[in-house]
Amino acid sequence: MKTCLVTGGAGFIGSNFIRYTLKKHKDIQIINLDRLTYAGNLENLKEIENDLCYTFIRADICDREAVCRLFDAHDIDTVVHFAAESHVDRSISDPCEFIRTNVLGTAALLDAARRAWEKNGRYKPGKLFLHVSTDEVYGSLGETGYFTEETPLAPRSPYSASKAASDMMALAYFHTYGFPVLITRCSNNYGPYQFPEKLIPLMINNMLEGRPLPVYGDGKNIRDWLYVEDHCLAIDLAIQNGRIGQVYNIGGHNEKQNIEIVRLIIAALRDLLPSRDKRREHVDDSLIRFVEDRKGHDRRYAIDSSKTMRELGWVPETGFEEGIRYTIQWYLGNDEWLKHVTSGEYTSYYQKMYGKRGNAK
Ligand code: NAD
Ligand code: DAU
Repeated sequence: MKTCLVTGGAGFIGSNFIRYTLKKHKDIQIINLDRLTYAGNLENLKEIENDLCYTFIRADICDREAVCRLFDAHDIDTVVHFAAESHVDRSISDPCEFIRTNVLGTAALLDAARRAWEKNGRYKPGKLFLHVSTDEVYGSLGETGYFTEETPLAPRSPYSASKAASDMMALAYFHTYGFPVLITRCSNNYGPYQFPEKLIPLMINNMLEGRPLPVYGDGKNIRDWLYVEDHCLAIDLAIQNGRIGQVYNIGGHNEKQNIEIVRLIIAALRDLLPSRDKRREHVDDSLIRFVEDRKGHDRRYAIDSSKTMRELGWVPETGFEEGIRYTIQWYLGNDEWLKHVTSGEYTSYYQKMYGKRGNAK
């Protein structure tokens, strides 16, 4: 039985990863450590909250004592480190919180794992720290080309700068201490349980509410979209087959301009909403508003995942047409979740579930 510490497991990708892993692996214990910021929502994990292989602990990754206590209390084999401040717009208005969690928090976690796993200068066998990073650390592309693992880091937003700093810290632990760490760098994810501040769920929610659809700048910035379960699959394979000290890029080869995405969602939503549904009447292009551009807005991301496909045997399984349709259907079928998230009601779920203890078991 392996014990896996997932940080940030109450967020979008972390909660998908926990569900995915518990379904796929029967010989695993998962500890989810999450501070429950605005982005952490335990309702994302309702389906598995009573699973005997799952434990939730509310803690801040920056709290060194709490993190060290956790490593003392459990024989953790794998760390999958998702916890982060993840939204670029928020990093532009409040960069310091991004430095705190993404840089100092990652450093605290790396150090707690190193101390727990090292004995006489060597590491106990079978230990792995997987640091979840992003393609944004490579900066912005022109009209052609792809990010490979060799592309020099050139982050341009406070978010991506903080992620790049945490990547460098992780690699420094490998080079300095021989610490068993590897890094995955993924492109834009979409799918169920994504907080409606990010492009796709924000557009779906605004369309359903009949609110304007804010498209930054000329709408021609390009992102490379990947269905969240394909990201989970790649991380799972990196845990099994990845080489320590290595970086693995993950992307769906699915470049789209933002305006294309918005128009695609309009068309899919019109198709999916029943003809008698009143909301169908206002879902059209007239909701689109071209608004002031994001400061320092990266123009294009595109990932070369050939190393990950070759070395880890990863092949994405969900095409964009299928993934986006399923995602819209998911939001339509989970209006309670969406209502709780947009009203802020989800934050009381923690009190209801766990009282003040902050520990499920
Ligand atoms: P998210 O914002 O949905 O979730 C982040 C989670 O981290 C939340 O549950 C939050 O409560 C928790 N958290 C934040 N600060 C914490 C702290 N100090 N201590 C403990 N927990 C804390 O993020 P996401 O979109 O699921 O992204 C997860 C990871 O994947 C991040 O590291 C992000 O950089 C990376 N990533 C995201 C994408 C994407 O498209 N969303 C793509 C590539 C990489
Ligand atoms: O590339 C991976 C990254 O993708 C992750 O590391 C980040 O955590 C994740 O948030 C995401 O960053 P982006 O900035 O690319 O995602 P976001 O959904 O915020 O924006 C996608 C694009 O859509 C971007 O070009 C900005 C634009 N946009 C976004 C919003 C929220 C709009 O035009 N209007 C909007 O309202």
